[in-house]
Amino acid sequence: MRRRPLGRTGLTVSELGFGCASWWGKPRFEERTALGLVHEAIDLGVTLFDTGASYSAGEAEPRLGRALKGRDTSGLVVATKAGTFHAGGGRIARDMTPAAVVASAERSLRSLGLEALGLLQLHGPSAAELNDKMLAALESLKARGLARAIGLNSFDPAVIGHAIGLPAIDVVMVDYNVLRPEREPLIARAAAAGKGVLAGMPLAMGHTRPLLARLKGPRDLWYAARALANHRGELARGRRFRFLHELPDLTGSQAALVYVLANAHVSAAVFGATRPEHLRENAAASGLALPADLMARIRAAQG
Ligand SMILES: NC(=O)c1ccc[n+]([C@@H]2O[C@H](COP(=O)([O-])OP(=O)(O)OC[C@H]3O[C@@H](n4cnc5c(N)ncnc54)[C@H](OP(=O)(O)O)[C@@H]3O)[C@@H](O)[C@H]2O)c1
Repeated sequence: MRRRPLGRTGLTVSELGFGCASWWGKPRFEERTALGLVHEAIDLGVTLFDTGASYSAGEAEPRLGRALKGRDTSGLVVATKAGTFHAGGGRIARDMTPAAVVASAERSLRSLGLEALGLLQLHGPSAAELNDKMLAALESLKARGLARAIGLNSFDPAVIGHAIGLPAIDVVMVDYNVLRPEREPLIARAAAAGKGVLAGMPLAMGHTRPLLARLKGPRDLWYAARALANHRGELARGRRFRFLHELPDLTGSQAALVYVLANAHVSAAVFGATRPEHLRENAAASGLALPADLMARIRAAQG
């Protein structure tokens, strides 16, 4: 597995990160398989694991902690998020005050069983919430040795654009995949400013494949329901990329990952997977080249 620098943090990360979120963290998903995926990812050379305090109704972070228990975590970058929390009944609430973010980071350390977070990211802050008090609180976490890098996750280009100008922010996580080429200028600006760039949703949540072809079990129904509720635009745009799944040398998921990794400004693509064969297939995409004719077809489909 190839590694890349995480901006100017001094950290390096595997170019493919494993997302510990969504179905992976749910109690309905068998614990043994979930932990096994993390262990196999480590064996495959993955060093970046991304989770969040509110992910999987608050269950993902402690599950990742159980997966890492007794393991050598010194070479890993464990990233989590603060500013949102599970408020019960499946409801996600937000508290983006500096005190709540610091308290959340401290709880995350306990849940994960770590002495320091590799990366603490604000989970969808507004530009106004990235104020001096918040930045000072984040810096204090670094000064106390509780977080090695500070970042944020946002799907709002204006927020990412604002964060790029803030010296306290080391890393930005953006929604970048074949369906989102419009993120490329922003990613280039972030990298030029020395920020690490994480691509969340690099597989476009599978929306390049027909929805019906993906329905093999309850987890797929869960992802399909999420797509119909939140990502109808992506589902429609994904139709133009069916050819990714008919290539002779790459699977569709590998092609999607290789596209994201062909962008040298990206530090890592963070994918989610709950099937071990998906993890292996995705890990094998590290180091693969994106053929020029395939890039041309992707560009044509992107319009
Ligand atoms: N989605 C968000 O809103 C969001 C927000 C912030 C951060 N993130 C970060 O980004 C990570 C990834 O996001 P995500 O999980 O929503 O989206 P994703 O990685 O783009 O897509 C996950 C979906 O792709 C499928 N998949 C993975 N590998 C595959 C393969 N080789 N062949 C076929 N299908 C494959 C998974 O299926 P199986 O489960 O069956 O393997 C799952 O249904 C998260 O874990 C999180 O760390 C996401």
